[in-house]
This record gives sequence, structure tokens and C-alpha cells, in this order.
Amino acid sequence: MQKVRKGVITVAGLGTRFLPATKAMPKEMLPVLDKPVVQYIVEEMVASGITEIIFVTSSQKRAIEDHFDRDPDLEHFLEDKGKISKIKPLIDLSKKVRFFYTRQSEPLGNGHALLCAKEFIGDEPFVFSDGDSIIDSKVPVIKQLIKVFDKENASVIGVQKIANKEAMTKYGNVYGKSLGKKLYKVTDFKEKPTINDVSPDGLIVGGMRYVFTKDIWNILESQKTGRDGEIWLSDAANTLAHKKKFMAYEYEGIYFDTGNKLALLKTAIHFAKKDTEIKDQIEELLVY
Ligand code: UTP
Repeated sequence: MQKVRKGVITVAGLGTRFLPATKAMPKEMLPVLDKPVVQYIVEEMVASGITEIIFVTSSQKRAIEDHFDRDPDLEHFLEDKGKISKIKPLIDLSKKVRFFYTRQSEPLGNGHALLCAKEFIGDEPFVFSDGDSIIDSKVPVIKQLIKVFDKENASVIGVQKIANKEAMTKYGNVYGKSLGKKLYKVTDFKEKPTINDVSPDGLIVGGMRYVFTKDIWNILESQKTGRDGEIWLSDAANTLAHKKKFMAYEYEGIYFDTGNKLALLKTAIHFAKKDTEIKDQIEELLVY
């Protein structure tokens, strides 16, 4: 069985919910404290053993390439000022992983965006994440999913279990047979079902984290447009689950959306409470 070593992160969306901030700046570069959202995702992949990452970008997203590239002038400057520790984690990242970029010329949906990485990935199993969700966990979530893949030799999705049925209607739901130990064999995926139709196991897609086998490519290539005229990864994953073994794993970790104002603020507060520099002041700020 092949080792999972490549990852795809899609960052080609328009980010309209953050306009005008995202007119000239990628939504995935918005900071959570002093680190852009997408760096949290890259760190999760690298800590999971991924050594090659391809970003599916668009013309507005050059800042992501610059962020992950080395900058000798800045490094010398910071070295002289004794401030190199500010970007040391980023320098260390760039030594552990190689970055590649491809473009999605039109934002035709996350399934279409993933398909843009097909030639780069080839026949290998790979991990996928969207570019705007952070999962805070002891063991990186992607590492947890790769462990399942290594055992099951099948595609895997990370899921969360929630009890509130009303809340479940706002997410992609996952249906399947429980195999115990937080593992399920998926039968169906449904995007935002009605309250009478939510997953009986309470499984939702919180933070898109997948391990895919090469079987996803043929399906994506023939995937018809769905809701809003876009090609959805969840539709393709649903077809894949009907054809091949597809596992869901209830990961350990807290999922944070960063795709809208309130969610990004909530994410920042969570990490601020853990930040040694500002955690004491943040409580005062919150009662302000
Ligand atoms: P969203 O569904 O949040 O869409 O994308 P968006 O365009 O970024 O934001 P809004 O809804 O206009 O505010 C989730 C992730 O999938 C990527 C986005 O860049 C983001 O990281 N994506 C989405 C693509 O790469 N291509 C697409 O066609 C759609």
C-alpha cells in the first residue's frame, strides 16, 4: 500500500463574505492572531507527514505563494534585529515540505478546484483540506485520518458528532454503519438535509478533511454541476461511497470555521485564550 505524502489545499474561492477585505487579499490569508488561516492548515499537514502540498489558487491569491516562499532580505533584516524567531516556524516549515501551485481559472466549486490538482497527484492516495477551516487537536486530524487509511486502505473523511438536529441542517451530513471505535462505513453524504432527514448518528462534516484514493478522479471528471451551478466535492464523495469502501472517522479535535466574520472572531478568541502573550488580557477584553 502506498504511503500518503501529498496534500491538496483549495484556496481559489472568491471569499465574498469578507468583501471588501478580500478584494485584493486572499480570504485564507486573514490572520487568526499573528498567523494566517492557511498556515494552520499547512502546519497540520506537515505534522501529519505530508511532504508535498499543492495549492489550487486563482489570480487574486499570489500572497499565499509569497507567504510560503523564503525571503532572504527579510530574514537578514530580522537576524540583525534579533527578531528572527518571529518567522522561524515558517522557515522550518519550508524545509519540511515542497509547495506547488496550480490555478482554477473560474470558481466553479470545490470539486472542480480539487480536479485541477489531478495531474500533480497522479494515482497516489492523498489528503485534501479546504483553505478556511482550522481544527485544534492534540494529534493533527489529518494524521488521525491517515492512520485509518493505512488500516482500511480506503478513502476516509473526518467527521464530528453533534446532538442538535437543527444545527445539523446547516452542514453536510454523513450516513453510515457504525463499526465501533469512532469508525463508520459511509453509505451516503447529503449536503444540508432537512431536519427530518439528518444523519441518525449525528455525523457532520466539520472542517473538510479527507484522505482520497485515486478512485475520486474518474468520478470528479464526470461529476455534473449541482447546487448553485457548482461542482461539489460532497456529490463526488457520495458517488464514491456508493461504489467503493469509504470510511468516516470521528476525529478528536475542535473545528473552527473561518469563512465568515463571526466565525473568524470566535476562532481568534479561542486561540487568544491559549496564547501565553495575551491570554490574561483577553478575558478583560471580553467583558469590555
Ligand atoms: P467557500 O465555500 O467558503 O467559498 O470555499 P469562498 O468563495 O471561499 O467564500 P464565499 O462563500 O464567497 O465567502 C471553501 C474553500 O474552498 C475554496 C475556497 O478558496 C475556500 O478555501 N474554493 C471554493 C475553491 O478553491 N474553488 C471554488 O470554486 C470554491
